[in-house]
Amino acid sequence: MAYEVHPLTEGFGAEVIGLNLAAEMTPEEFAEVRDLYFGKSVVVFRGQELAPDAQAAFSRRFGGLMIHVLTQFQIPGHPEVLELSNRLDADGNAIGFEDAGRYWHSDISYNTEPALGTMLYAVDIPPEGGDTFFADMAAAYDALPEDVKQKIEGRGAYHSYTINYKSNESDAATRPDLTEEQLASLEDVLHPIVRTHEDTGRKALFVNPGFTYRVDGMDKGESDALLQMLFAHTQEERFLYRHVWRPHDLLCWDNRSTMHHATVYDAQYTRHMHRTTIQGPRPV
Ligand code: OGA
Ligand code: MN
Repeated sequence: MAYEVHPLTEGFGAEVIGLNLAAEMTPEEFAEVRDLYFGKSVVVFRGQELAPDAQAAFSRRFGGLMIHVLTQFQIPGHPEVLELSNRLDADGNAIGFEDAGRYWHSDISYNTEPALGTMLYAVDIPPEGGDTFFADMAAAYDALPEDVKQKIEGRGAYHSYTINYKSNESDAATRPDLTEEQLASLEDVLHPIVRTHEDTGRKALFVNPGFTYRVDGMDKGESDALLQMLFAHTQEERFLYRHVWRPHDLLCWDNRSTMHHATVYDAQYTRHMHRTTIQGPRPV
């Protein structure tokens, strides 16, 4: 299996060229890919030809696949593949989730057992815009002053999906109302502010502006101040990577050590992606 690996930033992220993920892989070859993915946190595999089944099969090698709460946006016949799209069907209805997160977040951090990783396959992308930003939460943790590390060690914070569901204008306009059933499946959860990566052993910050709203055991003022400080810190330029999409990219990110956010694009263009989401463990 000969392929090239290039770094995406000085710290995290890698670009892989010349590897066909739809082809057979030995356990040794797979171990190499997995080590790269978990070691670099964000990996883009360029030039893939991945049918939904092949994407699901590759994703499943890392763990069980999660079914998103917005079940209306599954690919028919492939419940574990979510469509992110601004395309409309013949009746003018959205076929996919138009905006999967134009705020910083770690996928499904509002579940007791959040997503380990997410894989997004670019079927159709706009000529400009629609980039995705990533923040290296392990590097951000490492760079914290000692007194802050001590303050957050062993502390928890609450996460919720509904807190920001329609918090900005574009989300309020495009996101469907959650049904009673969808709401009933969502419960706020408490996660450690600092989590330890199960595979690399590295510590990372596990709070995000999208879903984290309250530090446990602090009053609102103190909690807001701490969260705002951590959010500003993690968004510093030195921890960021901006992914500019190419068609047929499969972009894989580790939600345990990164957070990300989508950016806007001109609605006259089509942006169409297939997403698979890998089940993770309860953060510790
Ligand atoms: C996601 C997500 C970002 C994007 O699928 O979880 O946040 O740029 N997507 O589409
Ligand atoms: Mn996301």
